[in-house]
Order: sequence, then structure tokens, then C-alpha cells
Amino acid sequence: MYYLGIDLGTSSVKVLVINQDNKIIGDASREYPVSYPKEKWAEQDPTDWWTETKNAIKDVVTKYDIAKDGIKSMSFSGQMHGLVALDGNNDVLTPAILWCDNRTEEECEDITNHFGQDKLSEYTGNKALTGFTAPKILWVKKNLPEVFQQIRHIMLPKDYVSFKLTGNYSTDVSDASGMLLLDVKNRTWSKEMLDYLGIEESMLPKLYESYQVCGNVTPSVLEELGLEGEIVVAAGAGDQAAGAVGTGTVVEGIVSVTLGTSGVVFAAHEEYAHDQENRLHAFCHANGKYHSMGVMLSAASCLKWWVDTVQKGMNFEDLLEEATTIESEDKNLVFLPYLMGERTPYADPDAKGAFVGMTMLTNRGHMTKAVLEGVSYGLKDSMEILKDIDVPIKEVRVIGGGAKSPLWKQILADMFAVEIQEINTNQGGALGAAILGAVGAGHFKDVAQGCEAMIKVTNTVKPNPEKKAYYDEKYQRFTKLYEAIKDWYKL
Ligand code: XUL
Repeated sequence: MYYLGIDLGTSSVKVLVINQDNKIIGDASREYPVSYPKEKWAEQDPTDWWTETKNAIKDVVTKYDIAKDGIKSMSFSGQMHGLVALDGNNDVLTPAILWCDNRTEEECEDITNHFGQDKLSEYTGNKALTGFTAPKILWVKKNLPEVFQQIRHIMLPKDYVSFKLTGNYSTDVSDASGMLLLDVKNRTWSKEMLDYLGIEESMLPKLYESYQVCGNVTPSVLEELGLEGEIVVAAGAGDQAAGAVGTGTVVEGIVSVTLGTSGVVFAAHEEYAHDQENRLHAFCHANGKYHSMGVMLSAASCLKWWVDTVQKGMNFEDLLEEATTIESEDKNLVFLPYLMGERTPYADPDAKGAFVGMTMLTNRGHMTKAVLEGVSYGLKDSMEILKDIDVPIKEVRVIGGGAKSPLWKQILADMFAVEIQEINTNQGGALGAAILGAVGAGHFKDVAQGCEAMIKVTNTVKPNPEKKAYYDEKYQRFTKLYEAIKDWYKL
């Protein structure tokens, strides 16, 4: 028996297969394009997602010869926030407006001015960010009124694929949390937001918990894919919540840190919680509970920029080795990692990167290390907000491309003064999705049991207590620096 996890990302879809012995069998990926028709815009054709998901499913079925032994479930990890709008015939009305599309600054202001941040937070748990879905709906209403009139169904990217598989309009509460349409605390649609946008609840998909079954693969799709039998589809989760399931971040006290292109601090907690200024996203988790999340727009991409663009001709290994073996620390040197603006904690699309505090003693090794430290401090900003709202941090699990660097993991352990754990898998969202589907199919009793069965800690990096004072002092400089120069770019 097999359980498929479909990770619908921004550049590709990956389908991962696990079996009844809780083994990862393998995966297949298919790519699709993103179009950037104007500055700040990013769009995709939802029909590409569907075509390539079907292709990737067929790929794994053939590659691992799994049609005859029975696929029992499918579920999703989905790129979040994107707006998919369908008409009464279920045809796509406009290209999907993606999470990384920033055309809605004006609409975010409209929403915030209309409600005031306190009420907006009361109704949705969050603040209006350009990536979120509600401002995109408002943008369509203002700029494409004839399209807005025709909208009968609004959904998120993975929910479109789910709809094509099952014929049902469904979503899950973790992904819906990023729409700014959900009353996160109560896990229901926010009447206030729907009224403000002028949309009916019937246009929105039915809400499920991530592990709940939202339908079965239809007979015609089964035939198209060359499959048989009953395959249940569980609602799935937004990519961050699914990724957290894929790292076992489903228990209070575990925090996961992703050092990918972007950086994410993700904490699972039992009760709903948000910080006073809504700097962290307060979302429903895929295990029926809640989570808080801070998102940095540039994390491992800062190191990539430093290596590929600034130190052209050098390679990662040599530069990281040089940074590991520098003779003395440069305690004045600070790097601000805002190469693409910043989301948490500043929500400032105009923030910029900087190196500040160089002397004649500063060398390239110091600068490489400052890049790693600067990104880590950006993550620490989110860790500090978690502490402010009393979310316990007992252990930190690090994943993503940056997690390959021992130096970076040691910096995080020393800076956060907490043990960093390495785990047996880097499959993240795809594994989380497969676990959610396996819960839906009854193979696991709940999400926690699925995580226990699939995810193991393989190594622990211990903090060096002697480093704490150095990192604490430098953090003071780091936090003051953004405040000191943020207006300078507007001069
Ligand atoms: C989460 C977020 C990203 C996107 C793209 O808030 O914006 O995780 O879902 O992967």
C-alpha cells in the first residue's frame, strides 16, 4: 500500500511515495513556468499545475511500479496565498496571482485603514501583507471588475489540484490562514472580511483540518492516471505547515528553522497566540492546533548572492572553510540580510542589505561569517517574538540548503543558546503531505504518530556557552542598525 504526498511548489511539483512500512520509496518532479508580466507581478497558469501533477503521478506510478499494489491516499503541501478564481463552469478566469506577487500595497492599506489593525487582528489573527489572498481579491475587484463579477469559486493553488482530483471545493485551515479571510482562532471564515470584500461564503471552499478526507479521486481521473480502487484525498496543508509535519514540528517546544531561499522560524503550539503587533503570522497548524511563523525573504539566498555574485569564481566550500578558520572574530562587523526587502519583523518591502562596521582588519572570512550571522540574527528576531508570547523553545530543527553547513548550524546553536537537531530527512513538505494523506486513510492514528514513525533525530549540535556574550552583544548592534538606516533609502 502506498500514500502519495504532492508538493505543489512555485517552480515545480514533486510527488513523493511512502509505503505501509513507513519507508520513503522515492519521488518524481515536473516543472512549470512563472510569468512576471510587470514589475512586482508574479503569475502562473493553474492548468499547468494540474497537467504536471498528473504527469508526476504517472512518473512515480511507472518508476516504482505501484499501480497494482494500491495507492490508498493523496494529499498536499501547497505554495500558499495564491489567488485562483473560477467561473460558473469551473474555468480559470485569470492567471493565478502568486504569493510572491507584490502588486497589492494599496489594497493592503485600504484593508488596514478600513478595519484598523486591532480589529483586523481580532477578525483574522494577522495583518494585511501584499502576498496574502484577500488583498489580491480586492485588487481584482478594483482593477478587473468584469472578472470579479464572474467569480463563482475562490481557492488556493493546491485546492485547485484537489478540486480536479475529487470534483470537490475544499481547503484546509492551515493554508486558509494565509488568505486573511479566516478567523484563525475559531477556524471559520471571517464574516467581517467576506462582507468587506463583497464575496459570499458559497464562493469559498469547504474548510477541513489538513488530515481530514475531503473526497475521493474520481473514476475518470483514476482512468486517466491508470489507477484503480478507492483513493482518498486528504485536504493537505500550506507548504510551511506541511513542511513542519515533515520535520516533526508538531509538538509544543519544537521549533523548526528553514534555511532555504527564504528563511522561516516555525513554532507549533497548543493554543491560539499572536503578538501584539502581528509581526509573526498566527496560523492554524496541520495537526489541529496552531502555529506561529516568522518569514525572512532572503536567507540562504544571501549566502548564494555573496558567493555567486560578489565572490564570483570562488566556491561555497572554500569560502565557508575560510570563515570557519578565521583567527579572530570581527565583533564590529554586521550584515543586514534584507536583499529583497523583509517580511518578519518589519514588513518593509523597501528594506535593503548592508555591511557595516568594517576596519582594516576585516577580511573576506569575516565577511562570509557576517553573512551567516546576519541571516541568523534575522531568524533570532522571530525567536525573540516567540519568547515574548511565551511559546516554549526547547529544541530547534534546521532544514533547507543552508542546513548542510556545520558552521551555520553551530552559529545558530550558539546564538540561540539551544540545541540544534538534524533529522533523517530533507523531504519537508512532500513528506508532510504524504503523512497527512496516510492519516486520512487511517494508516496513522494522528499526525503526531505519523511524525514519530517517519522522522528521527540523527545528530545534535550543542551550543557553546562561551559564545553567548559575543552573540548577545552583536545582536544589539544588529537590531539598532535597521532602525538607524531604514529611512536613509527613502532620502
Ligand atoms: C508562506 C509563504 C511561502 C509560500 C511559498 O507564508 O509565503 O511559504 O507559500 O512557498
